[in-house]
Amino acid sequence: MRRRLLFTFTLPVIVLGLFSVVGTSLSDDGYTLWMKYKKIDDERRLSQYQHAISTVNVSGTSETCRIIREELENGLRGLLGKEVLFAAAVNGKNALVIGTPVTSDIVNKLGYHARLQSLGKEGYLLKSAELKGSNLIVIAANGDIGLLYGTFHLLRLMQTRHSLDSLDVSSRPKTQYRLLNHWDNLDGSIERGYAGRSLWKWDDLPKKIDPRYRDYARAAASIGINGTVLNNVNADPRILDAQHLQKIAALADLFRPYGIRVFLSVNFASPMSGRFELDGDRKGGIGNLTTSDPLNPGVRLWWKNKAREIYGLIPDFGGFVVKANSEGMPGPQDYKRTHANGANMLGESLAPYGGVVMWRAFVYNPDVDFDRVKRAYKEFVPLDGKFLSNVFVQAKNGPLDFQPREPVQPLFGAMPKTPLMLELQITQEYLGHSTYLVYLASMWKEYLQFDTYAKGRGSTLASVVDGTMENYQMTGMAGVANIGDDRNWCGHIFAQANWYAFGRLAWDHRLSAEQIADEWIRMTLSNNSSVVASVRSMMMGSREACVDYMEPLGLHHIMQTDFHYGPEPSYDKGRPDWTPVYYHRADSIGIGFDRSSSGSNAVGQYFSPLREMFDDTSTCPEKYLLWFHHVRWDHRMKSGRTLWEELCNKYYAGTMCVDSMLATWKSLEKSIDPEIFLQVKARLEKQKTDAEIWRGTCLRYFQRFSKMPVIH
Ligand code: GCU
Repeated sequence: MRRRLLFTFTLPVIVLGLFSVVGTSLSDDGYTLWMKYKKIDDERRLSQYQHAISTVNVSGTSETCRIIREELENGLRGLLGKEVLFAAAVNGKNALVIGTPVTSDIVNKLGYHARLQSLGKEGYLLKSAELKGSNLIVIAANGDIGLLYGTFHLLRLMQTRHSLDSLDVSSRPKTQYRLLNHWDNLDGSIERGYAGRSLWKWDDLPKKIDPRYRDYARAAASIGINGTVLNNVNADPRILDAQHLQKIAALADLFRPYGIRVFLSVNFASPMSGRFELDGDRKGGIGNLTTSDPLNPGVRLWWKNKAREIYGLIPDFGGFVVKANSEGMPGPQDYKRTHANGANMLGESLAPYGGVVMWRAFVYNPDVDFDRVKRAYKEFVPLDGKFLSNVFVQAKNGPLDFQPREPVQPLFGAMPKTPLMLELQITQEYLGHSTYLVYLASMWKEYLQFDTYAKGRGSTLASVVDGTMENYQMTGMAGVANIGDDRNWCGHIFAQANWYAFGRLAWDHRLSAEQIADEWIRMTLSNNSSVVASVRSMMMGSREACVDYMEPLGLHHIMQTDFHYGPEPSYDKGRPDWTPVYYHRADSIGIGFDRSSSGSNAVGQYFSPLREMFDDTSTCPEKYLLWFHHVRWDHRMKSGRTLWEELCNKYYAGTMCVDSMLATWKSLEKSIDPEIFLQVKARLEKQKTDAEIWRGTCLRYFQRFSKMPVIH
C-alpha cells in the first residue's frame, strides 16, 4: 500500500555524531561491498595462491575481457600483495588461463567442448588442468560473460580461502532473468528505499557518467545479476520520453559488457495525453491519445512505435515491468479488458526485438473478494494460457505483501501455462528498513523450499520458478533493490548481505543460506573462523527473531500504516485492507484471520494436502496459525501453553534474540573494522529498543482482548 510519506530518520545523524566523538581511525566505509580484495593474511594460503597464479592469460579483445583483466589486476594485486604478470602466452609453469574455445587456443586444445555445450551462454567451467608441463587454472565458457562470471567465482574462492587444487566446477544459472527491480523515481527519491537517494542521476545523464554506475555493475555482475529495472513500478510515464531514453541508453551501454541488460517499468497510460502526478491523477501519459485501451489500434501502434524507438537506441533492451490496476495505477481494466489483453499488447510490441513483459500480479481489488490475500489468484488463474509467450506474470513470494512471514502465494503451481516470475523484496519495507539486521536468505529459502504440492510431493516453489516443474520456456527472479546512493550502498552493512544473497540464490537456489552467509562474511568482515561462526549464527537467527518480536504465529500487517516500520495494531481508519485490525481481528474470544473452509476459504487456493493441513488448527503449522485461523486465547498449543502464553513467549523470545545478537556483536569488537563495528552496534542498539517497543505495544494492545496477564 502506498501513500507518500515525509519522514526524517535520525539514526544516520546519530551514528555520524558518534563516530566523530569517538574519533576512531575510520577505515572501511562499506563502499567496496564484498569485493575488498584485502591481502591474504594466512601465509600458507597466500604462498599457495601466489604459486598457483604466476601469470595470467586472458584471451579476447571485447570490453568484457578488458573488464576481466582489470578486475583480476586489482583483485590479485590486493589479495596476493604483488603485481601479477599478464601475458599473451602461457609463460612459466603455473598460469591462470581465461578464454573461450574460439578466443583461446589453450582452451580449445583442452577439449571441453562437450561440457561447455551444456552450460549455455552464461555458464562457465573453472578447472585445474595440465598442458605441456604447465599447471593451469582454466576459466572456460562459451562467451565472454561466462568468463566474467567464472572470474568472479575464482576471486570468491580466494577471498574465502578455498584451496585452488583440483578445481572442477561447472556452473550455469538456474534462472534466466535475474533482475534487480529499482523502485527509483525520476525525482531521485526511492519508494521504500532506505539507503539514500537514487543512484541514477537523471539530470546529469547522459553526459555525465557517475563512476558509481560502473561499481554497481561490477557488484551486480559479481553475483550473477543480468538485468536491472531502473525505475519504480509506480511508473512515471516520462521514463519513456525521448530525453530519458537517451539517458537510459547511456546506462545500457555502460552495463552491457557486464552482462546486464536494462529494463523499464512502464505506465499503462503512457500513450495518453495529459498530466501525470505521482499521488494525484495518474491517468495522464506522454502521448497524444485519449485512451490507453489495449484493443485500440492507435494505442497498439503507439506501443509498437515506442518499442522501435527504444530498440533503435538500446538493441538489447530487456523489456517492460508493468503494475496495472493496482493501487491506483492505470491498466486494461479501466476499459473492461483483462490483464492478458494489456500484457499481450505490450508483448506484441516487444516480440520482434526479443523483449519480454513482466506483468505484475500484485493486484487486490476489493470487489474481487472480501479477503485481500485471495484476490490475485482469483484474477489471474482464469487467465492461464491466455498470455503471449514473451509474457511473464510476476508475483510476490506471498499472497499479501512482503511480510516477515507469509505462506507462499498460491498462484505458484496454479498457472502451468504461464511462466511465473518470482518477486522478492531485498529492501526491508516490512522488516525494519535499513535499521534492523535481518538476513533474508533464510526467509527466501523457506519460500523456495515451500512445497506447493501442485504435482504431488516435491513441487517446490523453486521448481516452479526455475521452470523444471511446468517446463516454462522463460524463467526469472526479481529482487526489489535495497540500493541507494549512501556511501555503503544499502544503509546497513548487513543489508549488503541481502543484495549479495539475492544474486547468489537467483543464480542457484540450491545454495544454502548458511553457505551464502559464510561467503559474504568472509568477503566483507573477516576470515577468522570463530568470527565467521559467531556472525553467521547472528544472521541465521535474525529473521526468526524479527518475526517473533513483530508478527509471531502467523500475525501479519500490524505495522504502522504507510510507514510500515513500528507497530500499530490498533489502527482502523481508511481502507479496511490497509489496516492492522482487518488482519489480526482480535476480539474477546481470540485472534487471527479465519481463512479456513468455514471462513474466507483462502485455504481452498492451495493444493491438497496443504489445503486440508492449513484448514485444521491441529495440523496447521503454528507459524501460520493466525494467518489461517481465528484462534481462542485459551487454545492449547503444541508446547502445552495457551495461545496467549505462546504469543507472550514469542514476543519475549524475539527480543531476547536481539539482545543476544547485540552481545555477540559487542564481543567481536577487536575482530571487526572499527567503522563497521560502530555502525552495526548503533543499529543493533536501536533494533533492541524497537523490538521492546514492538513487544510492549502489541502485548498491551492484545491484552485488552485476552484479559490475561503477560507472562514470560
Ligand atoms: C507495497 C508497497 C508499495 C509498492 C507496492 C507494489 O504495497 O508498500 O510502496 O508500490 O507494494 O509492490 O507495487
